[in-house]
Amino acid sequence: MEKDYSPINTNSVPVKRLKTGDEIPVIGLGTFGSDRFTSEQIANAVKEAISIGYRHIDCAEVYGNEKEIGKALKEVFDEGICKREELFITGKVWNNRHGEVVLACQESLDNLQLDYLDMYLVHWPFPNYHAPGCDGDSRNPDSKPFSVQEFLDTWKQMESLVATQKVKNIGTSNMTVAKFEKVLPLMKILPAVNEMEIHPCFQQRELFEYCLKKGIQPIGYMPIGSPNRPLRDKAEGDSIDIEMPQIKAVAEKHGVHPAVICIKWAIKNGHITIPFSTNKDKFYNNLKASFDNPLTDDEYASINTCECGSRLVKGQVFLWEGANDWKDLWDENGVIVS
Ligand SMILES: NC(=O)c1ccc[n+]([C@@H]2O[C@H](COP(=O)([O-])OP(=O)(O)OC[C@H]3O[C@@H](n4cnc5c(N)ncnc54)[C@H](OP(=O)(O)O)[C@@H]3O)[C@@H](O)[C@H]2O)c1
Repeated sequence: MEKDYSPINTNSVPVKRLKTGDEIPVIGLGTFGSDRFTSEQIANAVKEAISIGYRHIDCAEVYGNEKEIGKALKEVFDEGICKREELFITGKVWNNRHGEVVLACQESLDNLQLDYLDMYLVHWPFPNYHAPGCDGDSRNPDSKPFSVQEFLDTWKQMESLVATQKVKNIGTSNMTVAKFEKVLPLMKILPAVNEMEIHPCFQQRELFEYCLKKGIQPIGYMPIGSPNRPLRDKAEGDSIDIEMPQIKAVAEKHGVHPAVICIKWAIKNGHITIPFSTNKDKFYNNLKASFDNPLTDDEYASINTCECGSRLVKGQVFLWEGANDWKDLWDENGVIVS
């Protein structure tokens, strides 16, 4: 018998309120398929996910699938599955377009066939470009360390998008406390969110708490620890969240896949989570996990002990000449490395 995928009542899915007063659902569908899925497969997943109750989609120019997602969104609206204003759509400006943010945003809007974005993020705080799908050892000779001035020039363009109502909220991604400390005092509009890697084996507590203190809502990417990412993005010693005994034990008790427990942990931890899958069963289970049968305090505490500092997105392809290694991107000593 085929499983029942009746649409989930969207009112069941909790929301967070952002600085602007806008609400964002605590779970969104990720759309970075790496090289495992075609843009069409991902766009189909977006349409199906909206049909079963997702109202938040995490997009980015560099994922290379905005045009196909745009077609899917048009079908969603034309077929009356939901209205534009019921969706929360995020876009991101890629590193090679920090000098032309307004143009990049307009191109994303055109590709997505939208008049505005609910959220627009600076994908990385550096203008360092690397080709999508490039090898982990590849470097761009033009890469530069973080510059407060360069970042603020980019941010000013982000702020102008709010003024022209192309974008409702703006935010950052892949930031550090040290970088925030330098740029926050100089911004006119503070970031509404920071998208950052968060999963049980890599919780980024210091940055997480810092964001909350500043009123910046954390969005956690790779919530399941991206177990099927391509080999080129894996390194020796990387954790595998869904194989952690603490997570497996809770999954067994709940009778669900460990991935679902990672989603429940994210919700109880208080951040927004954006798991990826094109598989209906998986993305249905993830949406349900955002409100159904939450973790107990003890289960949450036990999963908190998975923390082992296992950063999966190291970002080494963004390194500049003279940098030591990928740790330089993350200001681990609390000082911006330049
Ligand atoms: N801002 C940034 O710099 C940044 C960086 C990375 C990612 N992101 C965003 O974060 C999103 C999520 O990251 P991610 O895709 O790398 O990692 P992820 O969501 O942690 O993991 C996705 C993997 O988990 C599996 N999965 C999902 N739900 C499952 C379930 N219920 N049961 C079993 N397996 C399940 C999927 O398997 P199948 O594929 O087999 O279905 C998929 O391979 C991206 O799509 C992107 O939107 C942002």
